[in-house]
Amino acid sequence: TTHKLLLLPGDGIGVEISREVERVIAILNGKGGPNSFEVERDLVGGAAIDAHGVAITEEAMAKAKTADAILFGAVGGSKWDDVPYEIRPEAGLLRLRKDFDLFANLRPAICYPALADASSLKRSLVEGLDILILRELTGGTYFGEPKEIVALENGQKRGVDTTIYTTSEIERIVKVACDLARKRSGKVHMAAKWNVMKTGVLWRDVTVATHKDHAPDIELELIVADNCAMQLIRNPKQFDLIVTDNLFGDILSDEAAMMTGSLGMLPSASLGAADPQTGRSKALYEPVHGSAPDISGQGLANPIAMIASFAMALRYSCNMAAEADVIETAIAKVLDNGLRTADIMQNGLTKVGTEEMGKAIAAEIETALA
Ligand code: IPM
Ligand code: MG
Repeated sequence: TTHKLLLLPGDGIGVEISREVERVIAILNGKGGPNSFEVERDLVGGAAIDAHGVAITEEAMAKAKTADAILFGAVGGSKWDDVPYEIRPEAGLLRLRKDFDLFANLRPAICYPALADASSLKRSLVEGLDILILRELTGGTYFGEPKEIVALENGQKRGVDTTIYTTSEIERIVKVACDLARKRSGKVHMAAKWNVMKTGVLWRDVTVATHKDHAPDIELELIVADNCAMQLIRNPKQFDLIVTDNLFGDILSDEAAMMTGSLGMLPSASLGAADPQTGRSKALYEPVHGSAPDISGQGLANPIAMIASFAMALRYSCNMAAEADVIETAIAKVLDNGLRTADIMQNGLTKVGTEEMGKAIAAEIETALA
């Protein structure tokens, strides 16, 4: 099988970490196994704005449409602070999510044993941590209309964002949560604010009903989103899978990421509904971190989240779970060997840059596949 990948490095460190993922892809291609990869590349975000005046072109969207998986780096940076909101770098990412209906965003936060001391939480709280945040990605505050700033007669302005969810949008993500939980601990937390928000009331009611009809074997616990944020810091290991809306998921996943030692560690997968004909889902894989303009271009960025995102692509889009395991094991090994990028550096260990980290992981993969 030849898997078609579209690589969209984007801006800032997205470009640097994408080179390291290409290194890993080249190794797998060099093995001459039954699976190979065809990689197309294009611009997204600020880079696309500079070249074409839009955050993603129609040509890039067409390539994305035919790709088996999209590998996305990161977008944004202060260089584009003054471009109009509709054109801004993030619009490229949001268009990919929305146009391909990538509603299920899986954000695993796994604490590698070697990094338990790099977290800002105590070792005892994060050691062995393995949480999955399942974020609804195509609805809610991100896309609800009206979304505007209007001038008022009294000279003031009024900013409006609208949070909208329908029954089916909640039902489909809760079903995904229950299906994933069945392969994990069998327990789901649903975080929403039904004490303040009407969408929260709907999330609670639809979740309870979906659980009852679809997955009574799963243990369901409802949690108010702010309490969830607090409990994540207090005792993260009480959670296994948290399903939540687009905005809460954005925030809670950054929080969960930091428990693993660094935002530079966290991969993600954004999946659409399965095609009724082929059974395959449209999918985009990206690190949870951003373009980190402060360190970009210096070879300092941690490529692990990007490489781990490719491992997720192998697992969910390419039916290559064994190779995904090899990559994840290679990452753990390199960390065990004491290699650290600046974001996860600890006393007495070996500080390396993006390329050195990428090469070390690539070497472990080579050895494992030899
Ligand atoms: C994320 C990011 C994006 C989001 C930005 C870049 C638009 O923070 O994927 O978590 O807010 O969804
Ligand atoms: Mg975010």
